Amino acid sequence: MANTQRLFGNGILHGGDFNPDQWRHDPRILEEDIRLMQKCGCNTFSTAIFAWSALEPEEDRYDFEWLDTATERLHAADRRVILATPSGARPLWMAERYPEVRRAYRDGRRWVMGERHNHCWTSPVYREKVRQINTLLARRYAHHPAVVAWHVSNEYNGECYCDLCLTAFRVWLKQRYATLDELNRVWWSAFWNQTYSDWNQIDPRAYGLDGMLLDWYRFTSGQVVDFFQWEAEPLRQANPELPITTNLMGFHFGVDYHALAEFVDVVSNDSYPGYDADNPELARAAATQSMQFDMMRCLKGRPMPWFLMESCIDGRSLWLNSHLKAPGLHELEMLQAIAHGSNGTLYFQWRQNRGGVEKYHGAVVHHAHPEETRSFHEVTALSARYAKIAEVTGSLNQSKVALVLDWESRWAYHAALGMPNYKHDWALTNEAAAHYLPFWSRGIGVDVLSSDVDFSAYSLVIAPKLFMLKPGLSARLHRYVEAGGTLVFTHLGGLVNETGLCFTDGAPGDGLEELCGVFVDETDELKGANESVGVRALARNPLGIEGEWRTTRAYSLGLLKGATPLAEYTETWAKGRPALAERRTGKGVTYFFLADFDSAGYERIYASIARSSRLVGACGTSDPLPPGVTAQLRQRGTTKYLVLLNFGTTPVDVPLLGEWQDVESQSHVAKAAPLAALSARVLMSQTSFVA
Ligand code: GLA
Ligand code: ZN
Repeated sequence: MANTQRLFGNGILHGGDFNPDQWRHDPRILEEDIRLMQKCGCNTFSTAIFAWSALEPEEDRYDFEWLDTATERLHAADRRVILATPSGARPLWMAERYPEVRRAYRDGRRWVMGERHNHCWTSPVYREKVRQINTLLARRYAHHPAVVAWHVSNEYNGECYCDLCLTAFRVWLKQRYATLDELNRVWWSAFWNQTYSDWNQIDPRAYGLDGMLLDWYRFTSGQVVDFFQWEAEPLRQANPELPITTNLMGFHFGVDYHALAEFVDVVSNDSYPGYDADNPELARAAATQSMQFDMMRCLKGRPMPWFLMESCIDGRSLWLNSHLKAPGLHELEMLQAIAHGSNGTLYFQWRQNRGGVEKYHGAVVHHAHPEETRSFHEVTALSARYAKIAEVTGSLNQSKVALVLDWESRWAYHAALGMPNYKHDWALTNEAAAHYLPFWSRGIGVDVLSSDVDFSAYSLVIAPKLFMLKPGLSARLHRYVEAGGTLVFTHLGGLVNETGLCFTDGAPGDGLEELCGVFVDETDELKGANESVGVRALARNPLGIEGEWRTTRAYSLGLLKGATPLAEYTETWAKGRPALAERRTGKGVTYFFLADFDSAGYERIYASIARSSRLVGACGTSDPLPPGVTAQLRQRGTTKYLVLLNFGTTPVDVPLLGEWQDVESQSHVAKAAPLAALSARVLMSQTSFVA
């Protein structure tokens, strides 16, 4: 069993990607790095991430000396190491000698020799080579006192179409479906005459069977998870106590992070939100980022401490072409991760590379005058803050609201030609974020989860556009609502089963129509940004919603099958048709949204749902906090840590219930907490006030 005490037991992690392999020619740099690390208070370094050629310059000839030296120096200076395995980029000698390790494009061509993230997931040679280097690293460093965790590979992503992978796909399908008859059935292969009579006929590049594409996504993601386990095995064997992580990429489409997280000991995430203080939508961008962090905390099916493996200290990040961060914004971005249960924030990268395409990427240590830069000063200041608030690492967020974001459902939606915005996976996550925003702005904590978990501990479950219903989910949702739960379900949800076949008993199907009391018949995708349909709350509706708002993106026309309408469309020939409905079942209730609504709509609806579900925010109120502000609560026993974040550009007073103490200044705070523009505060309380 991995023990995270050494990783998380020494305060907040602060540091970054550290590449001593790039500076072997100049030992003075290591000494300078150590001095600067101590000076700016950075304590943890993810080391040697793309260092395979430095570790194994020729096949079976190894050089660990430079890594020994760096690890020893870090240890002597009381810095900690998260040691990487190097599979994220393969050495050129390997690509040259064993072409099968190179990933294949759709047309079968092999990738170029160099670059990174371009190896085959299946190749026995690559797996063997990875096993070999990981075993040697494990033998040498798994018990090193400086090493507090493993950083396996880097940002696993991508698919390979080589013959080995295609063959493995067919084997995987055989295991899953046993017979071709079953495969033909679940893929609906009579469509376009694609009935298979031999397993070897299966080629995931053929177009037209979305069931096949869905399985290809599953297979590729499964190969990644399998590859991770393969990599992790020698590490675990050498020291079962040393936690293993791999750096994830937020909502990344290609890998089911819920499946992967099952095998990692600690979740870590890479995050580059590219915040811009001049962007009037900054708060909305921040809320989407918060939702991602809430998902990271819950990837293992329940809240668990996690950390930020990569972020960018200044605006000069390579891909995002982002603006410079206004003073304070970086600290705010980092404390945002802490607010959502992270126990640390690391940077890409510690020291800027002198060459290579990322040479101008943001870093703690710049090419010249490293101690005089704004980045260095901000990092130093943040280390000092982290030292003062270190006690938060023992606490974690607890939420009464669950938001469902399910990878397989996302894949099925994406594979089904013709769904609104189906080409753009981000449209689904953006829509989920629109549902999330009213909770964020009230400081009501949300756990973001797959559809596979037990929801019984949550007061409210929101499942926006949950296109796929896996077996058993409908029954679980029925039980949840009957027992008193509140469920939000929406149009474009509950349309297909786990193989992508449409339900024929209703829409939503699989018995969910009964729970929702609505049948969705037709959906209209709104094309232009200005196209929308008006919506009005019905007079004296049972939820007590008032006012008018508009749809966005898509709206549906449905028939009520036992539900009570709460709001209706006011325009076009949709006028008078239901836009929002509720159905009571047992002790609970289901709210059905027939459209994507604008933020005013979600705000109104969720204000009423929060009130009727007695949801109270971290500040003790269910009213919205000042614009741009959120508050997130972490708890340890009866001790509460309230992290206040202001993404607005004006100072505010955040109303508060209870007695609080500022963890850094020790000052007493009650009734209201002053919060500067673009800033964060951490308060602590022992009093209980939350309903
Ligand atoms: C990713 C990678 C890093 C680096 C950064 C640049 O997160 O993991 O190696 O390339 O992007 O932003
Ligand atoms: Zn392959």
